[in-house]
Amino acid sequence: MIAKERTRTLMHFRQATTGDLDMILAIENQSFKNGIKESPQVFLERIEVFPEGFLLLETDESADPIGYICSELWSSKKDLSAENLSLGHSIKKVHSHQGQELYVSSMGVLPEYRGRGYGGRMLRHLITKASKDFPQVNSVLLIVSEKWPAARKTYLKLGFEQVDLIPAFFQPVGLKSEPGIVMKKML
Ligand SMILES: CC(C)(COP(=O)(O)OP(=O)(O)OC[C@H]1O[C@@H](n2cnc3c(N)ncnc32)[C@H](O)[C@@H]1OP(=O)(O)O)[C@@H](O)C(=O)NCCC(=O)NCCS
Repeated sequence: MIAKERTRTLMHFRQATTGDLDMILAIENQSFKNGIKESPQVFLERIEVFPEGFLLLETDESADPIGYICSELWSSKKDLSAENLSLGHSIKKVHSHQGQELYVSSMGVLPEYRGRGYGGRMLRHLITKASKDFPQVNSVLLIVSEKWPAARKTYLKLGFEQVDLIPAFFQPVGLKSEPGIVMKKML
């Protein structure tokens, strides 16, 4: 059997700054349908409030970052079905540097670099870094659509399990709404 080719390029993760906004939006626009994309304001707020949890992936293949991942720290007792999970929610209302749960609010890899292991490594790197920087973190939470098979596979491979299903959570413009699958991994 021929092993699937994985990248052997150099990878580097760095914290995002507000100066990276255009590149983050470029990845976002190529990753999500209209109605699911986050606004520039939401990204700016995430970078300002929790830069340690907003990482960009750089490789020697491209001058610009090829992926981003962003997160928040929540108190583990947050109500999952409430507005906290909604797209566009304000990180200021939910984030606490003392939070025990790492909520991965979004991630994306540019289409031409997908399927080469970058997404999985990006998520693993964020979890490792957050657990080191914030030792109280004991779980990771995220929400995914059943229409995003690559993302679901990435999460399942990393040990995430479904803990909830929110009907009509994702509402792409002009398309049928999609349920949100809430997934969790205990550390
Ligand atoms: C989700 C995402 C970040 C993953 O990045 P990536 O670099 O492609 O991830 P990886 O290469 O580590 O893993 C993707 C896995 O999904 C698999 N996959 C890709 N397309 C698939 C499909 N249509 N059906 C099933 N599996 C699929 C790949 O084969 C790979 O599995 P493998 O490692 O067993 O070969 C990327 O696909 C993306 O940006 N998607 C659009 C935005 C998005 O869905 N973000 C997640 C929000 S919750």
